[in-house]
Amino acid sequence: MEFGSRRTYTTMPSNLRSSRLLLISLLLLLFYSTTLLRRPTTPNLVSPPPCDLFSGRWVYTPETPKPLYDETCPFHRNAWNCLKNRRENMGVINSWRWVPDGCGLSRIDPTRFLGRMRNKNIGFVGDSLNENFVVSLLCILRVADPSAVKWKKKKAWRGAYFPKFNVTVAYHRSVLLAKYNREANEDGVKGAYRVDVDVPADEWINVTSFYDVLVFNSGHWWGYDKFPKETPLVFYRKGKPIHPPLDIYQGFEVVVQHMVSYIQRQVPAKTLKFWRLQSPRHFSGGDWNQNGSCLLDKPLDKDQIQLDMWFDPRNNGVNKEARMINRIIKNELQTTEIKLLDLTHLSEYRADAHPAIWLGKQDAVAIWGQDCMHWCLPGVPDTWVDILAELILGNLKQSKD
Ligand SMILES: *[C@@H]1O[C@H](CO)[C@@H](O)[C@H](O)[C@H]1NC(C)=O
Ligand SMILES: *[C@@H]1O[C@H](CO)[C@@H](O)[C@H](O)[C@H]1NC(C)=O
Ligand SMILES: *[C@@H]1O[C@H](CO)[C@@H](O)[C@H](O)[C@H]1NC(C)=O
Repeated sequence: MEFGSRRTYTTMPSNLRSSRLLLISLLLLLFYSTTLLRRPTTPNLVSPPPCDLFSGRWVYTPETPKPLYDETCPFHRNAWNCLKNRRENMGVINSWRWVPDGCGLSRIDPTRFLGRMRNKNIGFVGDSLNENFVVSLLCILRVADPSAVKWKKKKAWRGAYFPKFNVTVAYHRSVLLAKYNREANEDGVKGAYRVDVDVPADEWINVTSFYDVLVFNSGHWWGYDKFPKETPLVFYRKGKPIHPPLDIYQGFEVVVQHMVSYIQRQVPAKTLKFWRLQSPRHFSGGDWNQNGSCLLDKPLDKDQIQLDMWFDPRNNGVNKEARMINRIIKNELQTTEIKLLDLTHLSEYRADAHPAIWLGKQDAVAIWGQDCMHWCLPGVPDTWVDILAELILGNLKQSKD
């Protein structure tokens, strides 16, 4: 933006010039903050944050405070409890801080956050990468309320109730979001999986009104390794098989369409809705079942070329599907009030932060391979929590105006 004629300034003494520049900057700042913060908002018609928290870089900051929780958190899932499983390098993994371009990201203050969320509930719906996210959130919030207890009502798979604040945070496992069942073949042997693209899964269809904030995801199960051609996904709409049959990515697109439309129609408008994008995998040298590994001791280089080698579909790497799936989701969410939680890019760098071979169980690596998909806790999902908390609090503030 150009304000006024620049030539007039060049004739001024430089100290006067800089104080005028300062004044102009202050005025701009005032203008910016009043218009942005005071802009009348329809509750829940969510405007973008003043700064893009999803683009930035990881900075090595050894003096950064320790994570808010450790291996004793009762909400851990064993395979991700990297401190307990004595994963190497945990100190270094948690010394990297995500610094968004152009603004600061502060760590969540669990007491303040729960105080603002008093009498409200947060729900996550999706696959194990959303579970990974929720475990981090539960362990962090527990710092502010050690009397937190496990909560698994309403078909929740995992969750906690925080009595001091009357807040429930829970995860509903629904890996495809749509309802799906395994069908028997004619010979009685189990075969294909029937997916009803227009029916939300039982695990979440009737619980959305309980939550004030919802975070959806799906994507990590949409692949031929989970559903090979012997036991494929077969798509149904209005109770009838879709013709011609859809392949797995076409099926994903149609399911996202229907789920988004259901959420728009059925979830109350006051509910703050997020859709989190894919969590990137980091198998190198082969896929998860081909001795793929992620024994890196630092994040990938910030050089985009290196990231593209891992993730760009054009390079046909083992991790390419994340960006393909994201494209489909972004496209379907374009005209909705559901906010994108674009955690993919920042996570792409963190090939160093998966459980890898430290899975807490003998033979787990021999049987399942390394885990270069989920994340160590404490670890990268704690940064996802910082971002989510910032966005939730920002939106609560707006809807109060
Ligand atoms: C706790 O929160 C729920 C909403 O989630 C509300 O209906 C209930 O009245 C609250 N209980 C107390 C004791 O404030
Ligand atoms: C959801 O609610 C509807 C309407 O009350 C009911 O017919 C249906 O059985 C419920 N589904 C589940 C899975 O609870
Ligand atoms: C994985 O490594 C094991 C042990 O080194 C080897 O026996 C096996 O053939 C490898 N598998 C693949 C798919 O490369």
